[in-house]
Amino acid sequence: MEPLLEIKDLRLVFSTERGILDLFQGLSLSLMSREVLGIVGESGSGKSTLAYTIIKLLPGNARILSGKVLLEGRDILSMKEEELRRIRGKEITMVFQDPSTSLNPVFRIKDQMLTVVKENLGLQGEVARKRALELLKQVELPDPESIMNSFPFELSGGMQQRVMIAMALAANPKLIVADEPTSSVDATIQTQILSLLKKLKAERDFSLILITHSIAVAKEVSDRIAVMYAGEIVELGKVETVIEKHLHPYTEALLKSIPRPRGKSEMKRMLPVVPGQVPDLISPPSGCRFHPRCPYAMDICKAERPPYFNKDGSLVMCWLYSEER
Ligand SMILES: Nc1ncnc2c1ncn2[C@@H]1O[C@H](COP(=O)(O)OP(=O)(O)OP(=O)(O)O)[C@@H](O)[C@H]1O
Ligand SMILES: [Mg+2]
Repeated sequence: MEPLLEIKDLRLVFSTERGILDLFQGLSLSLMSREVLGIVGESGSGKSTLAYTIIKLLPGNARILSGKVLLEGRDILSMKEEELRRIRGKEITMVFQDPSTSLNPVFRIKDQMLTVVKENLGLQGEVARKRALELLKQVELPDPESIMNSFPFELSGGMQQRVMIAMALAANPKLIVADEPTSSVDATIQTQILSLLKKLKAERDFSLILITHSIAVAKEVSDRIAVMYAGEIVELGKVETVIEKHLHPYTEALLKSIPRPRGKSEMKRMLPVVPGQVPDLISPPSGCRFHPRCPYAMDICKAERPPYFNKDGSLVMCWLYSEER
């Protein structure tokens, strides 16, 4: 079966005042139809940049040196703006980290929902209104009528996230990319949003990329997990395999660092802590980018970037799995 989305050998750098920041040095990934892929990694590993690359919505200082992003075989990176507009918000939709950046504070939910429904589905008047209400029901918001008449600030963080998910669903997209949809709300809401995503995934025909710091969050909904470190996908496999038979030393560190909150309200503050520093990608470590923090580092790890090795059905970018070692 052909993948829904295929990222091939993506190289991307940022120009900065301090020099060239070398983020992706040949990143590849594919996603099947209806699949849920969790992307986990620390702050600065490149998760959001990857998400923005998928819809070709990158800051002006980003440069794609090579690579392809194929949506059902069509290369998004070589598309014109007009074609891209047909894809963004229709075939691929995003749910962003912070509701306040996606919902416009000066417009009622009604206006924002109707805009999305009209633009993407071409509906008008009462039909459009009905569709908007239906979407709000699907994301399990109580009393959709009164939600429609509210301003974003009148809703809780969790409700705002549900509205954003409703807007992302509006066009029946093939792919939803959710960038940390659970970080700005407390743990109870986080669990509710995750079960909502699970339910929607079971009912509807979309693929989901879920971006998060937390491997525990990714585990809840994902079919597969990609672990990112300093611009590289260092491990990629089925969720059970990655959690139970993790291969990469960084995955091991992430799993050890799963926070155990003492109170519900503490959860959002607690990000996993892996010993050591994330490298400065303006002068990244040679060889394997994780080697300075790796308890198992060998000489070859400093000298050469590891290729992918296949182990237990997972892919791992680590010299520990080389046969000739
Ligand atoms: N516009 C930009 N200009 C220069 N550097 C950037 C730019 N955007 C991102 N970066 C750098 O690229 C790297 C990846 O950033 P990105 O935001 O993709 O990480 P992330 O994994 O989403 O982090 P977080 O978990 O904090 O959201 C970081 O080193 C970041 O500083
Ligand atoms: Mg991010």
